[in-house]
Amino acid sequence: MLDKKIEEARVAIRAQLDTTDNPREILKSPAIKDLYAQLSELPNEEKAEAGKRINDFKNEVISWVHEATSSESESSVESIDITAPWSANVPGDQTANPLPPSQGSTHPLHQEIEHICDIYRRMGFVVEESREIDDDYHMFTSLNFPEDHPARDDYDTFMTDEGLVAPAHTSTMQNRVLKKFAANLENNEPIAVIVPDRVFRNEDLDATHEHTFYQVEGVFVGKDVTVGNLIATLSAFMTEYFGEELKTKLQPFYFPFTEPSFEFAIERPEILKKDDSEEQKWLELLGCGMIHPNVLREAGIDPEVYSGFAWGNGIERMVMMKHGIEDVRHFESANLQFLRQF
Ligand code: DAH
Repeated sequence: MLDKKIEEARVAIRAQLDTTDNPREILKSPAIKDLYAQLSELPNEEKAEAGKRINDFKNEVISWVHEATSSESESSVESIDITAPWSANVPGDQTANPLPPSQGSTHPLHQEIEHICDIYRRMGFVVEESREIDDDYHMFTSLNFPEDHPARDDYDTFMTDEGLVAPAHTSTMQNRVLKKFAANLENNEPIAVIVPDRVFRNEDLDATHEHTFYQVEGVFVGKDVTVGNLIATLSAFMTEYFGEELKTKLQPFYFPFTEPSFEFAIERPEILKKDDSEEQKWLELLGCGMIHPNVLREAGIDPEVYSGFAWGNGIERMVMMKHGIEDVRHFESANLQFLRQF
């Protein structure tokens, strides 16, 4: 009896679906309501089984409606390429000439980030992501910036009225990765993490300054880790990245979260040398140092037992050097003429 009713409803609803302009209305069809109404007339012991059969049928109808509405939206709404510059989606704008997806390419910065991660992975580092909104604690306090210390001003940090922070460096992740991988130390393994991600600063924009740019942070902690390990790690990376063995130089610097702190310079690779002058000899590439005991302590790591180093490397400058890009603002411009070159 119920089977017959369901079959009748199926035929009626299929017919309705073929003719209606609004497939969604079908879910309110009296044919379905009538089926549910039947339930109350059945003896109690049959209700559960019958209810299940009606629900199955209703799910079948729902999937027909989905099918009908998705093909409807495909045919009636013109698709847009949300990754293209806005003008590409203006109807009739012939100048936009959007890239077909088959000819799209990875953004030059992302190609480079992948390449950088690849090298560090082979050196035993794991890759973690940062975030695009953070707090004062991770931006400053956990990194040993005393309250009201002028060094906080060096970072031109965007903040909301509520005190949230757009991270101005990837060092915001140090406290988190130290805590996350602290168990490595108990197992006699080092913490070896890199964090490539986006950072933001309230900069006056010009060819070498952008408000949005990328850094890769590195953190290494273990027993008896020294400045020698820091130099060896960064030198190994640079040799692999630039494809030639380069001399390196540390010069003293100041960061609140490292002690001692350094600027790491490399001998300028031949391909990037303009001439043989002394100024062209060295290239300051990144900030680094031995992680300050207060930073380790804040993450629950005993600085009497463990030591480590960290570094932060801007990515744009390396990519600009590699490809001869003259203006950092190209990266965020979504300019197809620029992007087509990569
Ligand atoms: N966070 C620093 C900056 O953006 C760079 C930096 C320096 C990162 C030293 C480090 C470090 O991890 O140890 O200017």
